[in-house]
Amino acid sequence: MSVSLSPSLEFVLVTRLRAAGCVFAEDEARLIVSAARTSDELASMLDRRVAGVPLEHVLGWAEFCGLRIEVDPQVFVPRRRTAFLVEQAAALAPTTAVVVDLCCGSGAVGAALADTLDRIELYAVDIDPAAVRCARRNVPEPGRVLKGDLYAPLPTSLKGRVDILVANAPYVPTEAIRLMPPEARLHEPRVSLDGGTDGLEIQRRVTTAARSWLAPGGHLLIETSERQAPQTAEAFADAGLTTWVESSDEVGATVVVGTAPR
Ligand SMILES: C[S@@+](CC[C@H](N)C(=O)[O-])C[C@H]1O[C@@H](n2cnc3c(N)ncnc32)[C@H](O)[C@@H]1O
Repeated sequence: MSVSLSPSLEFVLVTRLRAAGCVFAEDEARLIVSAARTSDELASMLDRRVAGVPLEHVLGWAEFCGLRIEVDPQVFVPRRRTAFLVEQAAALAPTTAVVVDLCCGSGAVGAALADTLDRIELYAVDIDPAAVRCARRNVPEPGRVLKGDLYAPLPTSLKGRVDILVANAPYVPTEAIRLMPPEARLHEPRVSLDGGTDGLEIQRRVTTAARSWLAPGGHLLIETSERQAPQTAEAFADAGLTTWVESSDEVGATVVVGTAPR
């Protein structure tokens, strides 16, 4: 069963969404109607959206790199800018690549790389059980999703074999979390946002250990902010990687890239 969008229903939905501050009220109304199987479900989805629940949590999915990624409540919503991390990683990947997606959240980055690259051996890791459950539905077989702290759950046989190591780790300074929009602050878990005092604590842990996992000539790519990029790059250089910064004004994305010595 599905609900059809009559002009009068559309008017009601758009009016409520707009009053709640949804900028793209028409688009959201169409998406909510297409996802609702019954009118009760439609009413409940609308109520949640009007109450400030992120659209992706209301729908249960987010569009990312042309894929429909399932996103459960209390799992980080993949951002449009993170497609830039995927693009940069795909451009550096060899034909047959061992890929690790650390801090995978919903698994969006790994799933998009699996979709873009022909042959990859993919491992995705997250510490949050809710994210791991979600990523297991998004990461295609034979990719593996592992639960644990950064590198801890990876098989040690991967040491020295990883061609592409990507991470969109939390990078918001602890004190700045309270300034984030309520959609993130209230509906995404703190573990997905909190990067410690300067926002870079998890990134530094990723970079410090990266050399022992990367293959000779393998690449580490971490999403960061434009402001934090010099410090992120410094951590890469300290870890012995040849380092540079890529950015996209179009999507407001910054990625630090480092290559291990051959
Ligand atoms: C900013 S979200 C990014 C999620 C996903 N990579 C994306 O781009 O949509 C950061 C993720 O890192 C995970 N995380 C935080 N600390 C971690 C740790 N020590 N080890 C593994 N995952 C961690 C969080 O649970 C969250 O899912």
